[in-house]
Amino acid sequence: MDKEIIEEWNSELADSTPHEILGFFLKQFSGKVALSTSLGLEDQVLTEMVASIDSSTKIFTLDTGRLFPETYDLIDRTSKKYGISIDVYFPNTKEVEEMVNTKGINLFYDSIENRKLCCNLRKLVPLARAMNGLDGWITGLRRDQSVTRTEMQLIEWDENNNMLKINPLINWTVNDVMGYIEAKRIPYNSLHDKGFASIGCQPCTRAIEPDENIRAGRWWWEDPESKECGLHEK
Ligand code: ADX
Ligand code: SF4
Repeated sequence: MDKEIIEEWNSELADSTPHEILGFFLKQFSGKVALSTSLGLEDQVLTEMVASIDSSTKIFTLDTGRLFPETYDLIDRTSKKYGISIDVYFPNTKEVEEMVNTKGINLFYDSIENRKLCCNLRKLVPLARAMNGLDGWITGLRRDQSVTRTEMQLIEWDENNNMLKINPLINWTVNDVMGYIEAKRIPYNSLHDKGFASIGCQPCTRAIEPDENIRAGRWWWEDPESKECGLHEK
């Protein structure tokens, strides 16, 4: 893909709403672009928008095998509410068995290397399968989520996956997200009402205090600079 077109889109769509941005890409790349959802608040906003624009759009989630029961419940509630199917991708059984049987069931607490290995096998390997045949993927990334995300763009060329990456909520604040969830009565993870801000795998996520950064409860034992699972690393 011509990188100049990405710059053009970024300037042309700079003042468009997330709904308009999704409308543009779902039409331009019909059947070739998918929403990647962790069932987080941002992803729930995007799911509602995508379902209202074109409910046949592929929506997928990576089930690491270590998610919260509340997250599984939300997959079910969301699919039913919007009449969509959320494709669930699982890790490779043999690879995960070998990892946990050599390094331990909770290996991620032992080192960053182990944590990245686990994220790689449970998220990145299945992500590659989920992306097969696509020209682009849509994510719920927002710039103000963390120090690792401040440089992210609305439309990016994803070198790791060789495809477009579309981040329609890149400029939204947490208040924008919450406002939309409330206005549209979008279902959300019940853990958010118990102090959980950003939710990933159960062993790597905890509740935060009101004054903490929203990603402080993710891999809380690591430095903020290293806290990406590889899905969004360059
Ligand atoms: S993470 O990399 O630290 O886990 P985060 O939870 O902030 O990321 O989510 C950022 C975006 O990555 C989500 O909006 C979603 O598009 C994608 N994502 C994260 N986790 C998953 C998952 N398990 N399945 C599908 N997409 C995911
Ligand atoms: Fe493994 Fe934790 Fe990464 Fe989930 S977030 S894949 S449990 S290291």
